[in-house]
Amino acid sequence: MKDMLDQRETLLIVDDEAAIRKLLSQKLSREGCQCEEADAAEQVLNTLATSPIALVILDIKMPGKSGIELLPEIKSSYPDTAVIMATAVNDINVAILCLKQGADDYLCKPFNLEEVSLAVQRALEKRHLKLKIREYQQFLEEKVEEQTGEIRKFFLGAIEALVSALEAKDKYTGGHSRRVTEIALALGNELVLSAQDMEDLRWGSLLHDIGKIAIDQLIQNKPGKLTPEEYEHIMIHSHVGADIVRPVVNENIVAMIEHHHDRYDGSGLNQVIMGDDIPLGARILAVADAFDAMLSDRPYRLAMPITEVIDEIKRCAGTQFDPDVVTAFLNTVGMTTT
Ligand SMILES: [Fe+2]
Repeated sequence: MKDMLDQRETLLIVDDEAAIRKLLSQKLSREGCQCEEADAAEQVLNTLATSPIALVILDIKMPGKSGIELLPEIKSSYPDTAVIMATAVNDINVAILCLKQGADDYLCKPFNLEEVSLAVQRALEKRHLKLKIREYQQFLEEKVEEQTGEIRKFFLGAIEALVSALEAKDKYTGGHSRRVTEIALALGNELVLSAQDMEDLRWGSLLHDIGKIAIDQLIQNKPGKLTPEEYEHIMIHSHVGADIVRPVVNENIVAMIEHHHDRYDGSGLNQVIMGDDIPLGARILAVADAFDAMLSDRPYRLAMPITEVIDEIKRCAGTQFDPDVVTAFLNTVGMTTT
């Protein structure tokens, strides 16, 4: 039992007869195992709760709770502990029942000590292998998760760069997504979002206008008022953007992008949800997006003064915007609600 000698596994020998415990304990200790003993169910459970036991040799017939009753309890609480059943009754049905309930092996009394030794070695090796396989599986899962995260980050970074490039081409929208992200995160902070929701909000804000890649530049930069058809064409960017990012981001971010032009009162173009059914991230984004847009020059108007912008956002609380988000916005910009 060279492996066992190296590892000094702890075994628990359970039998109501002290002489049998001693015999097994001496034999297995000589072979390098550390042996603990127990004579009844309660002591078995106490020992398992306090020591890391690799293997239990469990007598089937004991006063009080039998080994057959104890086996499922051990296996459900300590699934990594191997169990070898021992009984004086050479009964194949008992053996099958125990193996079905998760026992690793079965020994008959009177013991042949060499057979005991071999059975213990086999059970310990099987346990060791099971633990190794699980460790390896966990390692692989962590690696896959790590690499998936890396690929996702890389892809999102590339899309972010694309958004910046798109915006940089247009003198009216340069830096818009970055500024919207800063404002949205300040609102998210004010609304005490969880760390995960803040991370989603960050990506949703950075990518919210990626769908503009599909918009006709002439319409987007038209200096005059848009026709209803042109406006409808511009507004497809929410859906296009959601479709672009869907393969690599979670549903929360997709929904944020999809609904970032939804109006709180439900009166937006082709809008299907309203009020608090609109994802909170999208309601935040709506305010942040409008704030930055009004503060910037547009082909059809110059930038508005900040006081007018704030008044306009206030005026639209409950119609275009979620009133709670507007309150958070006013707190963020240092204005109180009236
Ligand atoms: Fe947009």
